[in-house]
Amino acid sequence: MNKLIVSLLLTLGITGVAHAAGDATAGQAKAAVCGACHGPDGNSPAPNFPKLAGQGERYLTKQLHDIKDGKRTVLEMTGLLTNLSDQDLADIAAYYASQKGSVGAADPKLVARGEKLFRGGDLDKGLPACTGCHSPNGAGIAAAGFPHLSGQHAQYIAKQLTDFRKEEAGRANDGDAMIMRTIARKLSDEDIAAVSSYIQGLH
Ligand code: HEC
Ligand code: HEC
Repeated sequence: MNKLIVSLLLTLGITGVAHAAGDATAGQAKAAVCGACHGPDGNSPAPNFPKLAGQGERYLTKQLHDIKDGKRTVLEMTGLLTNLSDQDLADIAAYYASQKGSVGAADPKLVARGEKLFRGGDLDKGLPACTGCHSPNGAGIAAAGFPHLSGQHAQYIAKQLTDFRKEEAGRANDGDAMIMRTIARKLSDEDIAAVSSYIQGLH
């Protein structure tokens, strides 16, 4: 294509890509109400409210649709997404994905067990290493929708793993969640406490 036409299309914002993707700047304003719980930049200060900063855009968009459609239950967010369009959700996801996630600290008493599980899984139980999908530093694989975990609050992580383990739980019942349901069922309460603490301090 002619260079001039390309730059014209870009200026007018009529390329397919420009439309499909979220706009982080627009998302910041739309996410103002979310900051009360998730922190203004997505680094929530409370252990039960997940950090969203630095989370993958694809994963965030999926969770926002799951929560909006009632496939994932988040009572605290009741009604908050009802009037947001697909574009609003994409913009908000782009905003949080563009922020830098903060890191916490692991409990020194739990680190060894947590690290072993995260990096090596458990061969006897047929448990795969978490690193395979969430990457060795916990950054996840954004393009695949595998979430970023490193630095996330241990309390929130533990709740998610417990929810995945349950038959009836807060999380959606689809293919992505099925992966984690199969994995979480192989984790004991002690495993969950250790790996969650390890993730909180991982970076
Ligand atoms: C009153 C507090 C509160 C407000 C306000 C709130 N949230 Fe949440 N949000 C939560 C809680 C609590 C969870 C986790 C629920 C659980 O344990 O599964 C959550 C989960 C999420 C998740 C899933 C995170 C993950 O890692 O899977 C996303 C995305 C999210 N919120 C986005 C938003 C957006 C966008 C807004 C604003 C439109 C918002 N939230 C407003 C409390 C809140
Ligand atoms: C085969 C790939 C795969 C492996 C291995 C895997 N995960 Fe996941 N994980 C996923 C996917 C996909 C999701 C998103 C599920 C969804 O969309 O609901 C996820 C979601 C999660 C979440 C929820 C994150 C959030 O922000 O709410 C946690 C916590 C988690 N995984 C922890 C682990 C731990 C701990 C291990 C190792 C014991 C592990 N995962 C191994 C693919 C994997």
